Amino acid sequence: MDKRLFIVFEGIDSSGKTTQAELLKNSLIANQELAVISPEPSNGIIGNLIRQALKQRIIFSKDRDLFDRQMAYLFAADRHDHLYNDVDGVFKLIKDNYHVISTRYYFSSLAYNCDSIEEFDFIQKLNDRFPNPDLTIYIDIPIEVSLARLRNRSLQEIYETKVKLTKVREQYQKIFSAYQGQAIAIDGTQDQQDIHQIIAAQVQALVQAKNA
Ligand code: TMP
Repeated sequence: MDKRLFIVFEGIDSSGKTTQAELLKNSLIANQELAVISPEPSNGIIGNLIRQALKQRIIFSKDRDLFDRQMAYLFAADRHDHLYNDVDGVFKLIKDNYHVISTRYYFSSLAYNCDSIEEFDFIQKLNDRFPNPDLTIYIDIPIEVSLARLRNRSLQEIYETKVKLTKVREQYQKIFSAYQGQAIAIDGTQDQQDIHQIIAAQVQALVQAKNA
């Protein structure tokens, strides 16, 4: 059995995923563990293509439903590469004794890339062979907080609008109320260090359980 963890952070844009992923990685390293952050979209070729599309440097279709479907296919392809590539894939890193922390995973496809129940089912099918993480941390913030934080950034991406983020947050709440795997939901408006302490305690307990 693998003794390393695959940990995922989820949440709407600017919820603090990257900050908390960094704090968690540093605390694991301080405890003499190996740990890396490996995001989605990934740093691989498909991930880069996706980032161009999010910035609208590439436009697959002006029809938003077709665009979302194209993105869902690309994210699934990127996810497969992110998990299974032999160079820096999640499972290669776990085999090399690293805890792997991903900012975003298939929950983001379910939250962002569909606007109807039919499309939700389609995205669920597209992703149903990907394994669940050992722990998923959902950081929840109000839309106004997200928008205020996004205003301080120079470039707006395609999904960073009030209407879209409102739907995405509702989707996340539905997904995690039904999710059967190991997950925690955290109020992301709390102090960063307080949030980190909650996460670090959960992760430490899992590390000890794996090593037992
Ligand atoms: P980031 O802001 O965390 O770098 O993510 C970039 C965008 O990608 C964000 O708006 C959410 C979106 N996204 C999807 O639409 N579907 C997915 O499956 C993933 C992983 C991200």
